[in-house]
Amino acid sequence: MKRGVSPSIMCANMLRLEEDIRALERAGSEYFHFDVMDGRFVPNFCLGPDLIRAVREISDVPADIHFMVEDPGRHLGLFPIRQGDVVSVHAEACVHLQRTLQQIRDLGAHPAVALDPGTPLCAVEEVLPDIDMLLLMSVNPGFAGQKLVPQVLPKIERARRMLIEAGRGDVLIELDGNVSLENARRMRKAGADIYVAGTSAVFRKGSSIEENMAQLRAVIEG
Ligand code: DX5
Ligand code: ZN
Repeated sequence: MKRGVSPSIMCANMLRLEEDIRALERAGSEYFHFDVMDGRFVPNFCLGPDLIRAVREISDVPADIHFMVEDPGRHLGLFPIRQGDVVSVHAEACVHLQRTLQQIRDLGAHPAVALDPGTPLCAVEEVLPDIDMLLLMSVNPGFAGQKLVPQVLPKIERARRMLIEAGRGDVLIELDGNVSLENARRMRKAGADIYVAGTSAVFRKGSSIEENMAQLRAVIEG
């Protein structure tokens, strides 16, 4: 898996989506982050399989699908998941987490587990052998435009230590939520590898996607 930037497609301009997708490609996006919401695990609805399928018809950028969905294992078959994609499920939303991660692996994608800011790292201890990425929410899931939950920053460092101690130093850590330039600097220092860029970064108003991405890369690539 590559390190880098995963722009949050829910923050793109839905009325000019192809233009934004082309700009994100030109800006070298390593992934496209698709937030899937069911109105139950989170109090919002967002991005379904048809939109992801439509984007995949025009772009080969790997999908980074973030299921904010109760019992996501029931729905994976509905989505156009491909070899090389990353698929994150919330530990808080899976009755059988290890089985769901195995299902994702069997689909040829990189399994990942996501944690809300308030969920302790011990929730993933038993599935470290099954994941390629750990998604740490830096805001409470469900909406773009929120503010960083500050205690997530030291949580990144503790997550890195936990992975190394478990012999999984290869697992990448993705941060999702309020990835502004200032927060990205702090996240990088704490050990983040992949940055979900939404309204706080790549889709920031008043400058282009390319300009915003260049500024973000300058911060995360130091
Ligand atoms: C929130 C989503 C994030 C969000 C990021 O539940 O998971 O991907 O879109 O957007 P900003 O950068 O506005 O927090
Ligand atoms: Zn997300």
